[in-house]
Amino acid sequence: MTKITVRASRAYDVCIGKGLLSRAGELAKEVLSPCRALILTDDHVAPLYADALAASLADAGFVPEIYTVPHGEGSKSLSTLGALLEHMAERRYTRADALFALGGGVVGDLGGFCASVYLRGIPFVQIPTTLLACVDSSVGGKTAINLDAGKNLAGAFYQPCLVVCDLDTLSTLPPKVFADGCAEVIKYGVINDRTLFSMLQQDTCPADERIIARCVQDKRDIVERDERDTGVRMLLNLGHTVAHATEKLSGFEISHGSAVAMGMVTIMRASVAHGLCPASDLDALIALIQKLGLPAECPYSTAEIAVAALSDKKRSADTLTLVLPYGIGACQLCVLPADKLQAFLEAR
Ligand SMILES: NC(=O)c1ccc[n+]([C@@H]2O[C@H](COP(=O)([O-])OP(=O)(O)OC[C@H]3O[C@@H](n4cnc5c(N)ncnc54)[C@H](O)[C@@H]3O)[C@@H](O)[C@H]2O)c1
Ligand SMILES: [Zn+2]
Repeated sequence: MTKITVRASRAYDVCIGKGLLSRAGELAKEVLSPCRALILTDDHVAPLYADALAASLADAGFVPEIYTVPHGEGSKSLSTLGALLEHMAERRYTRADALFALGGGVVGDLGGFCASVYLRGIPFVQIPTTLLACVDSSVGGKTAINLDAGKNLAGAFYQPCLVVCDLDTLSTLPPKVFADGCAEVIKYGVINDRTLFSMLQQDTCPADERIIARCVQDKRDIVERDERDTGVRMLLNLGHTVAHATEKLSGFEISHGSAVAMGMVTIMRASVAHGLCPASDLDALIALIQKLGLPAECPYSTAEIAVAALSDKKRSADTLTLVLPYGIGACQLCVLPADKLQAFLEAR
């Protein structure tokens, strides 16, 4: 097992390894007194892993209860959150009790936000079961639900007290969901971890413990410097300006991971065209993306991308912060006037 300590506004361990679901109770007991444990999960993950987690918690003296929501982004909603909060209140969960989010980023984001507001905050444990959740959403304390006006518009910075990442759970992921997570793994390599990128080129599996641990360390290093996302944490948005626009233009038919892969290629291609990045690094990025089962070419024009990107609800000023690759493992933030985005992306 690899243990990585994140020292954010709250310090906590991220435990990564095989067979950890059955040890989750024992690990939780190191940071929590035995209490009632609400296991929040979705209807795909519940039949696979909820009973094993509940048994492990019960063995360690916790009193588990399973609460299942429908799978998918639709559960990151005000109505699902409301029902969950009412359930906890009716069952008289107290501030001494804890919420365990067992699942992918949807359950983690919903559970984290719920834990942050129920009784003004109760302890929260992340048990990620998708590759994306293991390397990205379970670490760093961003939690949110969606509003009609857009994604992740209501949320909180709320750190978990423990993250338990059982690599065995990744074996049941549908290949497309696994590939989506690979896009975020590649992202860490491109941002500032050339070694990680090389390991992936040399066929180390993205679900390998060493790879996941490197991603978590990379994210930890950034989050510790900028927990509230006002500076370097924005590096984690590499490829995401184009990705969010692409997802929106496709009516969310194109998955997030696929869109991130396309977004990284689009921005690196622009970087190459402006003479900032070696063309050989772009070739290496495209080759790795394709090897891991992801698409590299965005089907929309730069004009379409620019219009969609600039209509983003979270955007306010007339500038935007782009993450520019100067090479694999060498990204920097760059502030661009919004009306220059299309021309910047169009350069070839
Ligand atoms: N908080 C953050 O920092 C952060 C970062 C990145 C993404 N996110 C959020 O994460 C969400 C996406 O997360 P995701 O990609 O994990 O999606 P997800 O939670 O929807 O999971 C994808 C699918 O895989 C299924 N699944 C999960 N684990 C499984 C397993 N082990 N075996 C079989 N099936 C399994 C789920 O039921 C679901 O159908 C988005 O809402 C995004 O906004 C948050
Ligand atoms: Zn992402």
